[in-house]
Amino acid sequence: MNEYEVITNIIERRRSVFPASYLPKDIEETTIAKVLAAANYAPTHKLTQPWRFVVITGEAKAKLGAELGRIYRETVPEAKFLQKKHDSFAEKTAQAACILAINIQFHPDQLPAWEEIASTACAVQNIALTAESLGIGAYWSSPPLIDHLDQFLGLSADEKCYGLFYMGYHEEAPRKANRTPMEEKIKWMK
Ligand SMILES: Cc1cc2nc3c(=O)[nH]c(=O)nc-3n(C[C@H](O)[C@H](O)[C@H](O)COP(=O)(O)O)c2cc1C
Repeated sequence: MNEYEVITNIIERRRSVFPASYLPKDIEETTIAKVLAAANYAPTHKLTQPWRFVVITGEAKAKLGAELGRIYRETVPEAKFLQKKHDSFAEKTAQAACILAINIQFHPDQLPAWEEIASTACAVQNIALTAESLGIGAYWSSPPLIDHLDQFLGLSADEKCYGLFYMGYHEEAPRKANRTPMEEKIKWMK
């Protein structure tokens, strides 16, 4: 395969893989580090490099699951509280081998927020593609609860959590991407 074929294959093959499909198998710390290293090559205006990650493994996963359950209980109106939904957080954090909290360190004196969000999304895609190349499934989860994780994650001022990136080895069969044709999203000007 030439380079175009290799990268296209990985880009097209990457799918969101959810914790219920993960195998009970750890991801070695050196492998997690490899996956994270890819984030640092994302494009970044004014080199602010706004992407920040908290790597959650081992016993910290259960702590995160309990914290998400606690926040859910505290923020959802009592009439809408669902025990099953509450329990699903601990279940998902237990099923994952590793969870990355995706955080952004903003530089309001240098750049508008959208540029740092865009840059961090590029970093997350680098992570997702590297994980895919290593047989690791992953997905970006963005429940509203992440707005309440600052203290748990030890975020600094001007830092905000934008998601939880669940990761785990899996044996899912490849799935075709569900997309409308790209031609509908392009306007050529010649
Ligand atoms: C910023 C962002 C946030 C997302 N948040 C969620 C989420 O909260 N729950 C979820 O099930 N999927 C979430 N996803 C994953 C999308 O559902 C998924 O990418 C989409 O269904 C397309 O599937 P694919 O990733 O397999 O191509 C998120 C994706 C992005 C980029």
